[in-house]
Formats: sequence, structure tokens, C-alpha cells
Amino acid sequence: MLLQARSLTKRFPGTLALDGVTFELAAGEVHALLGENGAGKSTLIKCLTGAYRRDGGEIVLDGRPVDPQSTAHAQELGIGTVYQEVNLLPNLTVAENLTLGRQPRRWGLTSRRGMRALAREMLAGYGLDIDVERDLGAYSVAVQQIVAIARAVHLSGKVLILDEPTASLDAREVAMLFDVVRRLRERGLGIVFVSHFLDQVFAISDRITVLRNGRHIATTEAAGLDRLRLVNLMLGRELEQATGHGRTAHDAGEELLRAERLGKRGRIAPFDLSIRKGEVVGMAGLLGSGRTETAEVLFGATAADSGAVKDRAGAIDVSTPARAIASGFGFAPEDRKTDGIIGDLSVRENIALALQAHRGWARPIPRAEQRRLAEDFIRRLDIRTPGPEKPVGQLSGGNQQKVILARWLAMNPRFLILDEPTRGIDVGAHAEVLRLINEMVAGGMSLLVISSELEELVTVSDRVIVVRDRRHVAELTGQEITTDAIVRAIAAPEAATEAAE
Ligand SMILES: Nc1ncnc2c1ncn2[C@@H]1O[C@H](COP(=O)(O)OP(=O)(O)OP(=O)(O)O)[C@@H](O)[C@H]1O
Ligand SMILES: [Mg+2]
Repeated sequence: MLLQARSLTKRFPGTLALDGVTFELAAGEVHALLGENGAGKSTLIKCLTGAYRRDGGEIVLDGRPVDPQSTAHAQELGIGTVYQEVNLLPNLTVAENLTLGRQPRRWGLTSRRGMRALAREMLAGYGLDIDVERDLGAYSVAVQQIVAIARAVHLSGKVLILDEPTASLDAREVAMLFDVVRRLRERGLGIVFVSHFLDQVFAISDRITVLRNGRHIATTEAAGLDRLRLVNLMLGRELEQATGHGRTAHDAGEELLRAERLGKRGRIAPFDLSIRKGEVVGMAGLLGSGRTETAEVLFGATAADSGAVKDRAGAIDVSTPARAIASGFGFAPEDRKTDGIIGDLSVRENIALALQAHRGWARPIPRAEQRRLAEDFIRRLDIRTPGPEKPVGQLSGGNQQKVILARWLAMNPRFLILDEPTRGIDVGAHAEVLRLINEMVAGGMSLLVISSELEELVTVSDRVIVVRDRRHVAELTGQEITTDAIVRAIAAPEAATEAAE
């Protein structure tokens, strides 16, 4: 065995995050680590990489006990990690990022050439055709991730850990990343892969280990493993039948609002969009196609330079997010890191935050009311936390995502935009969120749901808008909404859609 974790234990105040977990990784295998939000996946990884000190248990690498004290130390030992959020510096060049903190001294003043050569050498065999002298930030997230992998592999070279690396990649980029992972497997690296996308897990993994509530539940070969059985192992119960069939048909009400020729040069071409009361409009398209840009002009996060948003009473001011919120709009963006999940604040405070800002700080929401609000959403969204006072930064990634969702739901907006609402959320909670969406629209709220998961769009949407190259190119309604039709609209050549418009 390349790497063994024996009976690892990790305790946080009020939580036994790892309860005697044993995990083995062979050289030349991709080993998926699965489990619900809060199961202990990231904690296990952080103990292996020295980011957390374990409370008990042993780590054995290449037959020798090791005791990683920090991520840098783990890297020296041979264990490298790449997280979902690339922890490199976008304003430095690719070469600088690759060689950061490790330019050999003898290069002295002429280090640039050495750096460039070293960077090229490090990237050899990854199939990337990029200019190492350009800023890393100029490249897509997928390329940045591969650069991060190249760096980690060069530094450590035995074990590569990928914690939800594909969460913000589109299908083509995932394929590119998996190519790299397969090459590294051939080179004999042991690779740990954490993901909530089961299709991807089956596509790339040799073995699968399931954690639940901090315990090791099972380790099996991926080939031949039944998907339903896997889900049951993860949840410890049968998955409720909430997904897989369309939303109960209902008559959406009168028109709530309409965007007329709304657009912003360079970001999204002018579009018309009418949304009715209690309607779910889905939005599909590749990453960077203009989905998020559409949301941003509707919410005032980007000022539109053409068109207007109107309702029955006339024009609605969406020139800034604050004004959009005052008009009853809400927007839960996809990136919880930049959306200001405030790690030090409690779950209660994070949930009450937007509502408080909207009411004005002069009228504080009484603590008891905040608590009721928080407890209500903890229950409805099944947020795994010991209580409302827990700092959000200490929840697992998926549970932080649910807190963001709760923050916007607490505002009870008339129109809510959800950008990738189920990203990073486990299969069980996924069903919960979809159920909640149904509940909200039944209560009269209108939603614009942006999602890369086509099954999800088909399940929740009354209508689907397809965006490509920063333009709205197609609209599907009722029976037309199938994953097939969406894929075709995303891929269709310009000519075909021009006619449809
Ligand atoms: N720094 C911390 N302080 C306190 N508790 C923590 C900390 N980090 C994790 N925990 C707790 O440990 C448990 C396991 O969390 P972990 O992040 O390992 O879950 P995960 O399996 O990675 O979930 P996800 O799929 O949501 O990312 C959770 O109950 C979490 O709240
Ligand atoms: Mg995690």
C-alpha cells in the first residue's frame, strides 16, 4: 500500500468529525472518497495533509509512519493536495506560480530564464499549450487547476489529493482534467478524488470508499457497483423519490416582470425575458456562455447599458443590488467564497444578514426572532450543525452552501435567482433543495434557476432558456424540455437557432 490511514480520529468541539477511520490508497489507483455533506471527507484529507492535527491514529506512507505537521511538510513527504478553489495567485505568471517559493538560489539575478525553463519542464506531459509568461488569471479555471496539479505533483510526486476539483468546470474541462488524472495514474501516483458528481466518480475511479458521520462505511471496487446501493451506503437510508420526474404541472400566474432588450455590451447581448408569478425559468448553457451575466444584469450586480426591467407598476430600478433587493429581488450566487459567507459569524447571523441589511441596521431584528428564523431553516434544509450559534466557517462545504440559500429564502423575495443551487450539495440534500424550490413557487415566488445539471433543470423548470456565446439562443417549454433538447440547443450551430429566434 502506498498510503494508509489507520484509525484516524479528529474531534472538534461538539463534533467527532473522524471516528477511527481507516483508508488505504494503492499506487496507480484513483480512489474516490464519498459521503454526505459533513461526513468527514475534507477533514480526513486535511489530517492526511497536515492542515489539521489528528487526535489519534496513524498515517503510513510507503511502509513508514509519517506525521505531517503542515501542508508544506506533507508535500515534502510526498502528499500533494489541490482544492476546489485554486490556491494560486492569479496576478502572477504561470511560471511564477509553478516555481513559487522554490527558485533555486544559484540562479540569483538571472532566475527568470531558469524559472521559465523549470515551469515548462513541470508542465511537460500535461497536454497544455499555454504561455508560462502570461498571468495565471488569464486562463480558465480548468487550466489553473491543471497548473495547480502540476505544481503539487512536482513537489510531492506520490499521492495527489483532489477535493471537489470539478465543481466549477464544464463537461469539456472535466474531460481535460480527467485526461491528466489518467496520465498521472499511469505514472503510478495514488490519487484521492472527492466529488458529489456520481457520474464522474464512476468514470474515473478504481475504488470507492464511503464515509458517513465520521465513520468508515465501506470500500469497494467501482466497477460493477450498483449506483442505488452506493447512494444507500452514503445516506444510510433509502433515497426518497423526489428526483427523476417532472414538477407537478401547475398554472403559473400573471406576469410578474419582464426584461426588455436588457443587456450589457461585452457581457450579455440584449434579451427579452418575461417571468410569471410562481414560475421556474431554468437557464442552461456552458460555463461562460452568459448565464451568470444574465443574472447579474437582472440583479444590478452589473449595470445594464441597454433596456429595462418592468412590472405592472412600471419600470423597476435594478441599477444596483441594493435597489434590486428593495424591489423584492434576490440572487444567491454560485461561489460561496466571494458571496461573503462570513466564516466567523454564526449560522444564525449569516442567515439573518441580508434580511437585516434590507431592513436597515437601525431596526435590529431581535435575537429571539433571528434564532427562530435560523432554526426553521436548519430544519427545512437539513443543515448539519450542532446549533444556530456555530460559526459557519466550521460547517462542511455543502452545509455552508445551504446557509447561503437560507439567507436568501429568509428575505422572502418575489423573484429569486439561484445560480447553481445544488453545487457541492450531496444527493440527499439535493432532493431537499428541489422539494424546497417546489414549495417556494407554490407560495407564489418566481425563480430563475441556473444549473449545469440538466436533469435538475428538466425536473424543476416550467421553461428553459438556453444561452450560448453571451446570447439567449433558444427557449423550451412544457414537453419540449428534455435533456436531449437542451444539449442540442447548447451545441446547435448558429444557423439553426437563428431560424428559431
Ligand atoms: N474547523 C472546524 N471546526 C469545527 N468543526 C469542523 C471544522 N471542520 C469541519 N468540522 C466539522 O466536521 C464535520 C465533517 O466536516 P467535513 O468538512 O470533513 O465534511 P465533508 O465530508 O467534507 O462535507 P462536504 O461534502 O459538505 O464538503 C462537520 O460536522 C463539520 O462541521
Ligand atoms: Mg468537504
